[in-house]
Parts: sequence; C-alpha cells; structure tokens
Amino acid sequence: MNHEHHQTLWKQACDILDLNDRGSYTVPTKGLYPFQWNWDSCLTALGQSHINEERAWREIQTLFDNQWPDGMVPHIVFHEHDDGYFPGPDVWSTGRPVPTSGITQPPVAGFCVNRLYERAKDTSLAIQQASTLVPQINRWHHWFYQCRDPKGTGLIALLHPWEAGRDNSVDWDDAFERVPTDGVGSYVRRDTTHANPEHRPTQGQYDRYLWLLQHFRSLDWDNSVLHDASPFQVVDPGFNALLIRSCTDLATLADAIGMTDIAEQNRQRAAKALTALDSLWSDQHGQYVCFDRVANCAIDSASIGGLIPAVASIPKHRSNAIAQRIDRISAHSRFLVASHDPEDGRFDADRYWRGPAWLIINYLLADGLAHAGETAMSKRIIASSLDLIENGGFAEYHDPISGDPCGGASFTWTAAMVMEFLS
Ligand code: DGY
Repeated sequence: MNHEHHQTLWKQACDILDLNDRGSYTVPTKGLYPFQWNWDSCLTALGQSHINEERAWREIQTLFDNQWPDGMVPHIVFHEHDDGYFPGPDVWSTGRPVPTSGITQPPVAGFCVNRLYERAKDTSLAIQQASTLVPQINRWHHWFYQCRDPKGTGLIALLHPWEAGRDNSVDWDDAFERVPTDGVGSYVRRDTTHANPEHRPTQGQYDRYLWLLQHFRSLDWDNSVLHDASPFQVVDPGFNALLIRSCTDLATLADAIGMTDIAEQNRQRAAKALTALDSLWSDQHGQYVCFDRVANCAIDSASIGGLIPAVASIPKHRSNAIAQRIDRISAHSRFLVASHDPEDGRFDADRYWRGPAWLIINYLLADGLAHAGETAMSKRIIASSLDLIENGGFAEYHDPISGDPCGGASFTWTAAMVMEFLS
C-alpha cells in the first residue's frame, strides 16, 4: 500500500472514531448499536490510543464503572435512552443504577489494558489508570471461573450466544434445539430496520435469544444459580482462549505495577485453563471445537471460534496447525478469514457469524500467530484485512468471497483495527 492510501485509510478511520464518540464511551455504530458494548469498547480503545491516550483509558474505565457487585462486566451499558434498539433496558430489567444487560461478553480487557500500558507515552497516567483497572479486571476473571465453571474444570461455559459475541454461529445450532420458545410473546426487532435482514440472525434464533433472557430475568440475574439453570451451556474455545490471554496479560501488567498477588492468581488461572483447553482439539477438523456441557459432547462445527485460541500461548504445533487450517480455508475465499468453514454446507457468506470475515478476529489471529512465530500467515492476514477495507469500506463485517460490506456501516472497531494494522 502506498503512502497516500495509507493516509487516506488512517483519516477515514479517525473520522469514524470521532463520529461514534459520545464523550466517555463510543457507540459501535449509529442506529444499529446506540449504546456501549463491552468488547467493542476495549478494542476501540486500542485505536483511540494512537490519537489520545486519556480518551482511550476513559473508554475502558467507563465500562468498568458499570461492573456488577458480583464482578461481572455486562455486555451492554445503556447510557442514554434510545428506542431504536431491541431488547432495551426495560426488557433486561437488571436493576442497575445505569441500566445494563444481564450477560457478559468476550474478556479482552486484560489484553487491551496491558497493550495500552505497554505503548503509553504518558506513563504516570498509565500507572494511575492501570492501578484502578487491574483489580477490577481481576474481579471479572474471578467471577468467570467462580460462576461459569462451578465444577472447576478450568474452562468456562457461555450461557447465551450473545455472550460469545458470535451471536448466530453454527456452533450454537444443536444446543439451540434444546432452548424452547414458548412464552416468549410478541416483540418487534429493530436490528432488521438498520441492517439488511439477510445479514442478521433469523427469527427462530431471536426467539431463543429472548427465551434465555427471560429465563435468566425470572431468576433475578443471580449468577450463583444461572449456570446450572441454563439449558444452554457451551464451552467455546475462542472465548476461553481470550480469557486465558487476558489472564496472562493481566499478570504481566499486575507485576509491572507491583500487584504481585493479582499477578500470581492470574498466572494460575491461565495455566490451569491452558491445560484444559487442549481437550477441545479436534484431529478431524485440524482445529479446536466447542463442547456442549449439557449434552456432554463435542460440537461438530468448524468455526472461527476454534481458530481464535491462536491468541493464547497454546503449544507451537497447535499454532502451526491453525496457520495451515487458515491456509486451507483461504483457498475458498478471496479474503481472510471466513468465520465459518466455506466447505461446510452451513456456511453463509453474508450472514453475520456464519461466514463473513471480521477485522477484529483477523487482528487477534494475526497477533497470536505472530507471537507463535507464524509470521508469514500473520502478515497475510494483515494484508488481506487492509485489502478488504479498501475494497468494501469500514463495514461491521464483509463477505469473504466478494468482499462486499455487510451489517452496519462506519463501524468503530473496524476503524480501530485498521489503525492498529497501519501502525
Ligand atoms: C445484537 O444486538 O446484535 C448484539 O450482537 C447483541 O449483543
């Protein structure tokens, strides 16, 4: 990419961060997602740190200001009234001072905060911010292993597909068969008025998202009982690997600021979880796969969730196998990395997490593979990501075959990831 292209992309990315900035948090995109989302904000802060470090720290601190007393960090914070989104705060009804959802999202805060700290030019600000955030992130990590792994297996289960962030992945199809839809009642979806319905989850999936929400609400969002009461308990290798990486990075950061107890707790969590993660490896697919904790079986679905473990310090031969797997997938799509195996009949190039490529996932994969010494594949992913944006703009996600933009436009975390790639 020449210098001029580089500058144009950078400027466009800055404009999008600006457009979606609400002062102390950033919306993922106007209309479709008008509030603060958990992992969006953490990854967005990486982009913001190139322009204004103080603003980047604020983004994450605003999220943690809304941490629950039990340690959970919710997936949405409803800072302002906006009835363009469903389900809104009245449906979740979690009783928080600033309304929030009642479930969580991929824990990338440990990873992102450590990265902000390591690149900080204003070191006294970084020490001050990290000193507040490290104990808060530690409480969230503790919450995960206490509430989502009650038997102490080392791996946590998701209780709702929205927690994975990969809402309609093929990974959840079988487990969703067990989730009823009776009693959900009528409701009006808003997402399909902002984005092409062909790019969004189906009505059947929405009914089940709503049934789970209402079930957890009827249990007063009590995280000491939700895990066992949920008919949906899926162990996602990608989510667990992000948690492991965040534990490892939080340990590094905690050591750097003298919080050695927190460092040790997180090193122990990561070590136990890394050993357990290997049980999710599938020789058949040459990648990790999800495990259905209720049905007690592996889930036969080769999705991006099984490649994300490249972000954690998995054994070298596993990282190498993941690089090879991405190479095989790339034979079937022009752009890297499809979120589901293009050779599987359930692949759908435009529908959210059933095929499209996502820049945030590419960023995490490129980072993990580079650390593991898989430099060639890491560079290929970065080049393809920038190509994808030049071709299809700063969309929420893209068709990996045509490169066409899908979902929401002028998307914050896509812009933040472009800035990361360019710098
Ligand atoms: C949505 O509304 O589509 C979100 O992904 C749920 O968090």
